[in-house]
Amino acid sequence: MAAPKVAVVGAGVIGLSTALCIMEAYPSCSVTVLSDQFSPNTTSDVAAGMLIPHTYPGTPVHMQKQWFKETFACLSAISNSTKVSEAGVHLVSGWQVFKSTPKEELPFWSDVVLGFRPMSKAELQKFPQHLFGQAFTTLKCDCPPYLLWLEKRLKAAGIQMYTRKVADLWELHSEYDIVVNCTGIGAHQLVGDKKLFPVRGQVLKVHAPWVKNFIRDGDGLTYIYPGIHRVTLGGTREKESWSLSPDPDTTKDIFDRCCSLEPSLQEAQDIEVKVGLRPSRQCVRLQREILSQGGLKLLVVHNYGHGAGGFSVHWGTAKEAAHLVGECIAALQGSSSRAEI
Ligand SMILES: Cc1cc2nc3c(=O)[nH]c(=O)nc-3n(C[C@H](O)[C@H](O)[C@H](O)COP(=O)(O)OP(=O)(O)OC[C@H]3O[C@@H](n4cnc5c(N)ncnc54)[C@H](O)[C@@H]3O)c2cc1C
Ligand SMILES: *[C@@H]1O[C@H](CO)[C@@H](O)[C@H](O)[C@H]1NC(C)=O
Ligand SMILES: *[C@@H]1O[C@H](CO)[C@@H](O)[C@H](O)[C@H]1NC(C)=O
Ligand SMILES: *[C@@H]1O[C@H](CO)[C@@H](O)[C@H](O)[C@H]1NC(C)=O
Repeated sequence: MAAPKVAVVGAGVIGLSTALCIMEAYPSCSVTVLSDQFSPNTTSDVAAGMLIPHTYPGTPVHMQKQWFKETFACLSAISNSTKVSEAGVHLVSGWQVFKSTPKEELPFWSDVVLGFRPMSKAELQKFPQHLFGQAFTTLKCDCPPYLLWLEKRLKAAGIQMYTRKVADLWELHSEYDIVVNCTGIGAHQLVGDKKLFPVRGQVLKVHAPWVKNFIRDGDGLTYIYPGIHRVTLGGTREKESWSLSPDPDTTKDIFDRCCSLEPSLQEAQDIEVKVGLRPSRQCVRLQREILSQGGLKLLVVHNYGHGAGGFSVHWGTAKEAAHLVGECIAALQGSSSRAEI
């Protein structure tokens, strides 16, 4: 059989990392990335890119932990190499603070991040409205640089990338053997996965180079995430809202909430407002599917629905998606024609 042709649809953090994993695991495949938007125009570009997992209620915790561990290990190696400045990946230390004691004192990821510990009384003095807190060191991907670096690695490996909106999976049938669906919230619009819904997030990206530590309110709503060049101030979590236009009242509210955690942000400059739609679902859809239509078959691997935590698990889910592509390749090789799969 000729080298299988794989189309990865989507060029956010999930599509790009998945394309890289497929290429590394199956170098004989021909991999193409098709996407209607590329960096800087994806949801992934809006994200802060912090590695703090979000919990998917429909996915076993041990699996989520494995995805996070793999992602942490991979980015930790990058952060400890000479590629740091180009890749935009860096370590960052800080605090997660709570107004009351959290349900679980130890989140499932506490032994994956570095130096996780309860905050001392002295540290908590900075946060008079909060009663309890956790200090740790984690990693952060700065976007767009991180996405551009992934694109560069794909190009260096000879992977083609085309701007194309895929209206229907079947339009790829004659050109590709396997289609990998990394369309994020886009998976809702096409044929329609009704379990997928947007959770709108508005953030501010500001110039405040003196802010070196992250601060996150345990309610997940207010956060300050310093990157290499800009600090991300958040945020909102608005279920089922599709609006991509910034709301000025929300901007003011975010700014005020962040200033109450870190008063020096009053002096922040060059405020840029961004909005993104988190592709939310009870669980990430990481699944192989064989679509049939009039005697034709199409092999599909889904990898979407990462909600509020796509960066935190992207290498783990990309590896699993690549493994599913491997199963598709084996099925193709074991049959004389695609119709027999
Ligand atoms: C404000 C905000 C802050 C966040 N902060 C963090 C954080 O700190 N840490 C973290 O882990 N996560 C964070 N997230 C979540 C994270 O952004 C997402 O989980 C992640 O970006 C999802 O990546 P994706 O590649 O699936 O989606 P996207 O980045 O949306 O990529 C989808 C791609 O598919 C393409 N596409 C869609 N439909 C089609 C189609 N029909 N044809 C062709 N192409 C198509 C799009 O053009 C795009 O390129 C945040 C999200 C928001 C909104
Ligand atoms: C991003 O969107 C802008 C505005 O629509 C467009 O001009 C630009 O070419 C897009 N960038 C990429 C890389 O697609
Ligand atoms: C960092 O890199 C050094 C030198 O290459 C290596 O010895 C060390 O184990 C690495 N540490 C981590 C945490 O990867
Ligand atoms: C992705 O999956 C969704 C849900 O099954 C489907 O509606 C959509 O057509 C798929 N898109 C691509 C490009 O694979």
